[in-house]
Amino acid sequence: MRVLVVGGGGREHALAWKIGQSPKVEKVFCAPGNAGTAEVAENVPVAAEDIDGLLRFARENAIGLTVVGPEQPLVLGIVDRFRDAGLRAFGPRARAAEIEGSKVFCKNLLKKYGIPTGDYQVFDSSDKAAAYVKDLNEPLVVKVDGLAAGKGVILCEDGREALAAIDTIMRDGQFGEAGNLIVVEEFLRGQEVSLLAFTDGETVLPLDSAQDHKAAYDGDRGPNTGGMGAYSPAAVLTPALSRQVTDEILLPTVRAMAAEGRPYQGLLYAGLMLTERGPRVLEFNARFGDPETQPLLMRMQSDIVPLFEACIDGNLAGHSIEWSDETAVCVVMAAEGYPADYEKGKVIEGLAEAGALPGVVVFHAGTKSGEGRVLTSGGRVLGVTATGKSRGEAIESAYRAVEKIRWDGMHYRRDIGRRAE
Ligand code: AMP
Ligand code: GLY
Repeated sequence: MRVLVVGGGGREHALAWKIGQSPKVEKVFCAPGNAGTAEVAENVPVAAEDIDGLLRFARENAIGLTVVGPEQPLVLGIVDRFRDAGLRAFGPRARAAEIEGSKVFCKNLLKKYGIPTGDYQVFDSSDKAAAYVKDLNEPLVVKVDGLAAGKGVILCEDGREALAAIDTIMRDGQFGEAGNLIVVEEFLRGQEVSLLAFTDGETVLPLDSAQDHKAAYDGDRGPNTGGMGAYSPAAVLTPALSRQVTDEILLPTVRAMAAEGRPYQGLLYAGLMLTERGPRVLEFNARFGDPETQPLLMRMQSDIVPLFEACIDGNLAGHSIEWSDETAVCVVMAAEGYPADYEKGKVIEGLAEAGALPGVVVFHAGTKSGEGRVLTSGGRVLGVTATGKSRGEAIESAYRAVEKIRWDGMHYRRDIGRRAE
């Protein structure tokens, strides 16, 4: 079978790498891909949001399965278009992807079905939102309704900070239409974890645990990013807790989506806060996490392709996933300035040396090839991932590989994987 992976980040490199190992797969394509996917797949110069272009490519190249990485094409309806054209595509349809595409939809769904999440209010005008928060003297979280590339969540110490956040979103329009509605939410405290699961719309099959490090700098300081590293398994998400989250959150959410006439098939990612009163949903994503996917797929021993097919065909029941006992750690190496403005086009050295170390895979994110060299082309540039018998060994191995790699201005966290100690 010929498989198309849509996207061009570290998650898509990991997906293409894993899919290419399936005995069912004869060739992998990646659109648009990056310099790393070019080594495990054939890159196709079509953007992830160009649904017409992707559909044409899939038809002309007899693609048997399309796996969609990022959220934008899902929210734009790529899976609807492919399925309606008789092509197999993994991921939720647009009406189901709204669970990530609209925070208001997600929060209202959770509330309607009694699924545990923080208390919240929705506002469609800055005046009403301001009147609500101005006298509140407690920490609050202000969220834009629509997609905002992970930047649409503002943590506020009190009502005054929330007022400033509301101004930025609703008066200055910094997030465009995504900020036409906002959610003002209770600030939740605890450990943050995510649980990812395959679902065919009825059965839920969780992946093993993983945890990412969102803050830019060591010790969880600095601005939030898409994720500066991740590791799997994550000790905080014990098997018992994973079952609890599956029973109390994932399954009820999949049933709720079905009851709403929005059956959810694909990968459902629950971002959770483990509070004193139990796990609470922070958000859902309609896709694999980046960078959680990199360490997770390094540990997945089962063929991933039958799992994609089972989600599409509605026969996930009876499937299981084998995991290696090893720990995997992914250290993200980022461009100078990331998560704010950053430069592109720096030459990356040492990739081959790093990738030759045992148990190491250097997943590319923001890279491209130029004149026989690999150049930076994004904020998160690489996800250097290593496995080890223990977490300590995996961490050591990942950083040994990181130290072989250099480019002008690179930065990375030195404490990835250490939170669980
Ligand atoms: P989200 O995109 O909703 O996951 O938010 C991004 C990040 O903001 C999360 O990963 C949390 O670290 C933080 N966050 C979101 N909602 C809350 C909340 N209600 N309380 C505390 N932190 C939150
Ligand atoms: N690592 C968080 C995400 O993929 O949204």
